[in-house]
Amino acid sequence: MSPRLVCGTCGLRLPRGSLRLQCSCGGLLEAHPAPSLRGVRLRAAFDRRREGDPAGEGSGVWRFRELLLPGRGPLVSHPEGNTNLYRRDAVARWAGVADLALKHEGENPTGSFKDRGMTVAVTQAVRAGATALACASTGNTSASLAAYAAQAGLPALVFMPRAKVAAGKLAQALCYGARVLEVRSDFDECLRLAREASDELGLTLLNSVNPWRIEGQKTIVLELLQQRGWEPPDWIVVPAGNLGNTAAFGKALREARELGLISRLPRLAAIQAAGAAPFYHSFRAGFRRRFRVRAETIATAIRIGDPVSYERAARAIRQTRGVVAAVSDREILSAKAVVDGAGIGCEPASAASLAGLRQLVRRGIVGPRDSVVAVLTGHLLKDPRVARGAPVVIAPRVSEVERVLKDL
Ligand code: F0G
Repeated sequence: MSPRLVCGTCGLRLPRGSLRLQCSCGGLLEAHPAPSLRGVRLRAAFDRRREGDPAGEGSGVWRFRELLLPGRGPLVSHPEGNTNLYRRDAVARWAGVADLALKHEGENPTGSFKDRGMTVAVTQAVRAGATALACASTGNTSASLAAYAAQAGLPALVFMPRAKVAAGKLAQALCYGARVLEVRSDFDECLRLAREASDELGLTLLNSVNPWRIEGQKTIVLELLQQRGWEPPDWIVVPAGNLGNTAAFGKALREARELGLISRLPRLAAIQAAGAAPFYHSFRAGFRRRFRVRAETIATAIRIGDPVSYERAARAIRQTRGVVAAVSDREILSAKAVVDGAGIGCEPASAASLAGLRQLVRRGIVGPRDSVVAVLTGHLLKDPRVARGAPVVIAPRVSEVERVLKDL
């Protein structure tokens, strides 16, 4: 039987069907899919399924099943994916490029891209006989895990940094029935605790250290390539925190090229918040040094100082001739106002991608004629406190409405 999981650090190969999610050396495990089809035939299979029921064959995640989880069986799926690519002239003009599409991952069932990874990882966990699920989270992972655990009928324990999680996400985790632990520390400590507790107490960890999360998140890239008729854009821009997505995007692109789904690699641009930018500092140092910082940013989803997927994300940037940029909270809020003002809307961390794109255009790294897909990672309603403007309070009289109309 061929090995399916390989440690990215020490090279240990685990046999197919192994239940382990972390290597004893502390390195992260990586799945190695081996589809029987390749090239145009694999593309044709994906394209045929796309015509099918979005809750079945046409799922935005599971239609790529050969590249996800080996074996067949029941799926824990809501379903996921099939998110839109939006083109809005005003947004493109603001960024400084003519050809821009926004892929809105906030359209997944719990309002963020995490659902794509969670459906694969929870399906695997159920097949492996998991009895309790756990994660550390800045909010979205816990909302997603809570929903998928509820669907699977398994208990979920989530570790969150106290008072640093946006209201919508906390509400989701509680409403879906997870047991929420507010840790008096930051996300990085929460993840350390969740990893340790999972090891010692036999919980199945659903953070992106879980290789099946990465496999699911590859479908953001696979789906956007398919939506473009398998014609890659010049750039894919993504917000970066714990670096699971950056790693997953790199892996998806590598596999897509190796399998002949595409013939050319887009360049990846990973965008961090300036107050939480250890990966950016490493990039500037040519990845010769790994940085860890104490993180602070209004974009709480990416308030992360010691990203766990550092190594594999660095590989993704190198292999795609990618770049890493850092944007201030002010740049993030300006970009969010543009996305919101276009009637699309996103949470603050998501707007980092557009803010980063604008910066990269101004620095001459992205050309004005380059084609770009920027990923919006989460829904506007996740973080309702970060809102522009305030309501106007009026008495119930038409004259008051008239007064407001004059100021519009
Ligand atoms: N955008 C949003 C909305 C997120 O929730 C996250 C991560 C990211 C971007 C960054 O993605 O970690 O793959 O680089 N949220 C995690 C969580 C950490 O716990 O919900 P990444």
